[in-house]
Amino acid sequence: MANSSSDLSRDLPKVNFWDEPDVLTQWEGFWLFTALVDPAMTFRSNFVARDDDVLLTSLPKTGTTWLMALSHSILKKGERGDPLTTNNPHSLVPTIESEPLSNHCNLDIYDASASRLLHTHLPYSVLPDSVKDSACKIVYIARSPKDTLISMWHFYNVIFRRDREPLPLDRAVDFFCSGMHPGGHFSDHVAEYWLESRRRPDKILFLKYEEIKSHPKREISRIAEFLGRPFTEEGEVEELLWRCSFERLKKLEVNKTANAKFFRKGQVGDWKNYLTSDMEDRINQTVGLKLEALGLFF
Ligand code: A3P
Repeated sequence: MANSSSDLSRDLPKVNFWDEPDVLTQWEGFWLFTALVDPAMTFRSNFVARDDDVLLTSLPKTGTTWLMALSHSILKKGERGDPLTTNNPHSLVPTIESEPLSNHCNLDIYDASASRLLHTHLPYSVLPDSVKDSACKIVYIARSPKDTLISMWHFYNVIFRRDREPLPLDRAVDFFCSGMHPGGHFSDHVAEYWLESRRRPDKILFLKYEEIKSHPKREISRIAEFLGRPFTEEGEVEELLWRCSFERLKKLEVNKTANAKFFRKGQVGDWKNYLTSDMEDRINQTVGLKLEALGLFF
């Protein structure tokens, strides 16, 4: 990811990530890709939410792609055709802070002429006031920190070290435990959305990747009801789950080559195949303690 920063973000603290210099910038207490800080600032200052907008939110590698596919399909149910057949979910739902650089969706997120389904990795505290104060709904997906870390390790090795040895996993654990990774600190990001969802359950739906895996029909129905599009027809839930399933999406032509990095294993507990007990202890004593205090994941 290219580093670029304007006057607004130039003086903010920067650190190396995955051996790439100055790739992360700290803004409002969280680490972001340096190139995304300016678009994030613009979003916070300029975005005006509509009451019927829906904002998906997540830390990277927690199930964003799945949530995009599910939410898009729920909001479009009843319409003919299945856009997922020919579009990667990231091309259907723009990630606000990276859309100006990636142009995945070719969409002006500031065009408020119709309701929008958008996504961001930004923490709750920096969301625009109009998102917080309007009736716009927020859906957050969280995932166990250990599986997120392993998913992140594979992903950033593809992005930053394609032709080199992967970053030693021990060093990835260091980045993770110190909170120096996109969206970090992990526990602070989760805590902000978790606490706000408890305070305003009508405003924020807090989902867990593991629960969607273990109780897919129940969790998908929760999303549909929250978005005001409950399932009414026989077989609808099953059909939608199949459409958005890892197994189906991974095999589609559109999700091969460049998009293949979004579909790795899609399993719960894969961390057990990678983390040593020392690495596990380090995570438990840092990220784990904070999440345990919230009653989450530990
Ligand atoms: P793994 O690396 O553990 O396989 P994100 O979308 O936030 O980048 O998260 C990526 C993780 O979600 C990856 O986890 C990926 O395989 C998994 N994933 C992607 N699509 C999925 C789907 N339709 N169902 C379940 N998991 C999915």
